[in-house]
Amino acid sequence: MKALLIYSSCDGQTKTIVETIAKELQEKVQVSLYNINDLPEVNLKDYDGVLLGASIRYGYFSKAFKSFVVRNSAILNEMPSAFVSVNLIARKPEKQSPQTNSYTRKYLLSSPWKPSICGVFAGALRYPRYSWLDRVMIQLIMRMSGGETDASKEIEYTDWSQVKHFSHDFARLIGAGDA
Ligand SMILES: Cc1cc2nc3c(=O)[nH]c(=O)nc-3n(C[C@H](O)[C@H](O)[C@H](O)COP(=O)(O)O)c2cc1C
Repeated sequence: MKALLIYSSCDGQTKTIVETIAKELQEKVQVSLYNINDLPEVNLKDYDGVLLGASIRYGYFSKAFKSFVVRNSAILNEMPSAFVSVNLIARKPEKQSPQTNSYTRKYLLSSPWKPSICGVFAGALRYPRYSWLDRVMIQLIMRMSGGETDASKEIEYTDWSQVKHFSHDFARLIGAGDA
């Protein structure tokens, strides 16, 4: 079994999430893992399944991710495919499904790609690493949503057991059993 895993990540958390999925799969699946910005010419049909991970920045997924999806939606829709959506609103348990996570729901409604499965994961909040402007903006977003506003904090909200569970769902989807 061969799987193509692609991530679009600004600060590294989506990269780590997709790398974790890759590690979970590696015993039973031949995994090719790429940053969407360094993606070589690939033929999606060479793979048994494709997984795309992307994070939210100021309400939107990256242009690189969205344009990849538009260019490849026809093939993606014909094969087993998975979407990994990462944002901070998903730190709230009730915002962790594709239907209840507003960014994910909105994107999927307008996207030509209809992934076979979709996982919504909480990302990380790393105030000290942000630029001054980003720090102020994220504090505002966090204040509005009742979250952490202490700018000295770094918090990883990702639930790694959920990520591993999703890896197994993806393995089953592409016919690799419970990897
Ligand atoms: C500049 C910036 C803007 C962000 N905007 C949002 C947002 O609008 N909504 C949200 O839920 N999370 C937002 N986040 C949180 C990110 O989605 C979260 O930190 C995620 O882990 C980032 O993934 P990455 O490390 O793969 O880039 C933002 C983070 C940054 C740094």
